[in-house]
Amino acid sequence: MIEAGEQVNLTIDDRQVAVPKGTLILKAAEKLGIEIPVFCYHDKLHPIGACRMCIVDVEGLPKPVPSCATEVKEGMVIRTRTPEVKKMWDGVLEFLLINHPLDCPVCDRGGECPLQDNTFKYGPPDSRFTGEKRHFKKPVPLSALVLLDRERCIMCTRCVRFCQEISGHEQLKIWDRGHGEYIDTFPGEPFDSNFSGNTIELCPVGALLSSVFRFRARPWEIKSAASVCPHCGVGCNIRGDVRNNRELVRFLSRENPEVDDGWLCDRGRFDSDFPNSEARLANPLVRKNGELVEVDWPEALEVVAKGLKRAAEADPRQIGAVGSPWRTNEDNYLLQKLFRAAFKTNNLDFTFKSRPGGTGALAEAYREGLFDGSIADTATADTIFVLGSDISMDLPVVDLWLKKASRRGAKLIYNYPAAVDLSQAKQSLIFVSSALLYGEAGTDLLDTLRELKREREVRICAVVPDTNAQGAMDVGLLPGYHPGYRRIGDEMSAPPMSGDQMLAAAKEDKLQALYIMGQDPAADPVRGEEIAQVLGKIPFLVVADTFLTKTASLAHVVLPSCTFAEKEGTFTNTERRVQRINPAMRIRKSSRPDWEIISQIGHWAGTPLDYNGTMDIFNEMTQVIPQYGGLSYDIIGEKGAQWEAVDDR
Ligand code: SF4
Ligand code: SF4
Ligand code: FES
Repeated sequence: MIEAGEQVNLTIDDRQVAVPKGTLILKAAEKLGIEIPVFCYHDKLHPIGACRMCIVDVEGLPKPVPSCATEVKEGMVIRTRTPEVKKMWDGVLEFLLINHPLDCPVCDRGGECPLQDNTFKYGPPDSRFTGEKRHFKKPVPLSALVLLDRERCIMCTRCVRFCQEISGHEQLKIWDRGHGEYIDTFPGEPFDSNFSGNTIELCPVGALLSSVFRFRARPWEIKSAASVCPHCGVGCNIRGDVRNNRELVRFLSRENPEVDDGWLCDRGRFDSDFPNSEARLANPLVRKNGELVEVDWPEALEVVAKGLKRAAEADPRQIGAVGSPWRTNEDNYLLQKLFRAAFKTNNLDFTFKSRPGGTGALAEAYREGLFDGSIADTATADTIFVLGSDISMDLPVVDLWLKKASRRGAKLIYNYPAAVDLSQAKQSLIFVSSALLYGEAGTDLLDTLRELKREREVRICAVVPDTNAQGAMDVGLLPGYHPGYRRIGDEMSAPPMSGDQMLAAAKEDKLQALYIMGQDPAADPVRGEEIAQVLGKIPFLVVADTFLTKTASLAHVVLPSCTFAEKEGTFTNTERRVQRINPAMRIRKSSRPDWEIISQIGHWAGTPLDYNGTMDIFNEMTQVIPQYGGLSYDIIGEKGAQWEAVDDR
């Protein structure tokens, strides 16, 4: 909560420091590296000075003050390490522990608990309290995902303030008063906010618990990997925690101030168990006498390479591949390279969704750099438009950024009617759904956006909801385009087919072979049945996936690929930010990363695609894809890097 402006000089523990006016004593001490223990204070929440853990002595004041809720003043002299302050901290901890149960050995927070840590560092060695601690039924489910152990709660209200100030879902409240105070939802109401899991991470004790993680690991058994959430196009940064190198037990937020602001949505946070599933494919499968039977990798790869080669030699117009918005850039890049180089086809896509009118206008917009907006632009824009997207579903954490913008007074306009008067807006940001940008209607809308951009300060960000759909387009899976949005020339005897067009061709028995990587179109809730029937007609269908999905069960060969949690690579988010994922756990069963599977198919097909690892592939991508030029794994680092448009037509 540091504000810019005039500097204030003060002394803390006999050391001079100058900080901007408005700075809290706590933050000024932090600048000097002086630790002051806190419970209720959190950088992203309004300070309320409730727990008194952070009290310090200020010369001239009659009583100690909470450093988290007191602003610095010129010439202040503060002491944080005197015997009096030590006694006060000791007293606050003793007071908090009157009711706190001695649960540490069985508490999920044990080993990573601020109450435990502060007591160890600053607290009393024992308690003088001999009475009965207060008791509650424990734990109480606030929802299917969040449990509350009220005996452990220290009433810091971080959880309540998160719901009021950040998510805007005011579902938690303090009930009763004094000794009887407790946290709960409104009577009979569930805690069903789609950001509820953030309260677990904010809770400074083991009061709020994840039903997914509870009792699954102790902190000292955990190893963590820095990664990116695999569930939508925001690309929130996560810490994947793994027990014994083989069981992914939870995702925690790994703050990236330009992407997620330190928050995760519940879909991202709690859907972490799938890599552990026993139902995962153990070995490759090949259809023999109508049945899928387990075989070893060399046999499966040979069957795939021969089958695809045979179909390509017969007619390369009747073979294709569909990659995946849930696979890495390296996987998708190599898939298109294999099919272009070994099987001479441009029938490539990353989705089976139809795009009426085609993707030409969208590709050109990427090429020319029309999309230059960033998620963090919501922090400065005075007017934000959201066109054609339910952001809270498409990009949940962006919804939190929009709420934050609204709280500081920015105007939010959803679904932009033509009548909106822009004359007041100085700096606008437009989120436009990529689904609006196909065909003629898309061209018209993009022309309007271009005109707006010529007239005023407008930044535009395409809403691309699926995890790495942006990357899949960038690296060459947008139908009709080579990597980097380079249009395929008109010299082709037949225009390249999209995923949807490949299905239409298969329906008319005009598709002989199809490779599907990491997606399950036969399970589509609307078109699944119809798609399954069409896929069933394809003479040679190969599916690379982690589970025996509906689509995989129709295939002639199924190749077990590993999950994002077991491999290295990059995802590109909706604002064109390339971010790295890192392996959190050992590869399960005999599955392999998709890029490795593709490289081995190349080997069996006589088109070697040999790489030493994903970094090798990425380095090649930076040579082939102009927008990725200048990037490297090092430059991407921990926080990612946005690509710049390069229009080299
Ligand atoms: Fe604080 Fe946790 Fe209690 Fe909420 S449940 S008031 S975050 S201690
Ligand atoms: Fe994952 Fe998207 Fe949720 Fe972020 S907003 S945690 S990327 S699903
Ligand atoms: Fe300052 Fe709670 S942390 S009063």
